[in-house]
Amino acid sequence: MQIFIDSANIKEIEKWVRYGIADGVTTNPSIMLKDGITDMEKGAKEIAAILDGKPVSVEVITDNPEEMLSQAREFSSWAKNVVIKIPIISQYGEPCLEVINTLENEGIRVNATAALSFGQMALSAKAGATYSSIFSGRVADEGGDPWELVSMSVEWLESWGYKTKIIVGSIRSVIDIQNAAVAGAHIITIPPQFLTKWVDHKYSRNTVKQFMDDAKKAFKNFKK
Ligand code: E4P
Repeated sequence: MQIFIDSANIKEIEKWVRYGIADGVTTNPSIMLKDGITDMEKGAKEIAAILDGKPVSVEVITDNPEEMLSQAREFSSWAKNVVIKIPIISQYGEPCLEVINTLENEGIRVNATAALSFGQMALSAKAGATYSSIFSGRVADEGGDPWELVSMSVEWLESWGYKTKIIVGSIRSVIDIQNAAVAGAHIITIPPQFLTKWVDHKYSRNTVKQFMDDAKKAFKNFKK
């Protein structure tokens, strides 16, 4: 299972890369807005350089299929590890499958994003997407069971030999990470604040403090 960092915060990305945890990064316009990226090209290039070949997803910012294609071609020229996020449908409900298929045929890797159903995931795989992003939090917002959806999707992709990997996004709490992992997600993209919580535990801190306190008592002569 891989872990992507769902963020455009340079310091956080650098940190999780140094820790050896980040297998990639996902962004979207809302994440860039929140993390203060106003120049998309500069921000994406900076993140891509930190990742040293690992994938960074950058989303198109248009609903028009022709513009999606030209933005995708431009964004993918920024760095070899840029993957293009194409929404599975536009805000008007038009399928973006042709865009996904065209880009993949050109050798541009696509992260088919904003999938909330099995059908959207399956069609993105049929169209050739490298990644299909299931938005778990938003599935749950609508009363769906995101973990059942992830588990069915991974099983279906593998049983038919699709190359598409499931990215579970829209992580809203720490337990979502465990649920996504147990459901078999190929990749989970996680906002850094939840990773920070995932590694921490109050009782681990207390345990380490006990060892440090006892070490001071036991090894009084240990050279500093
Ligand atoms: C990741 O690829 C998604 O863009 C992100 O996880 C969406 O999260 P949200 O549903 O919390 O906005």
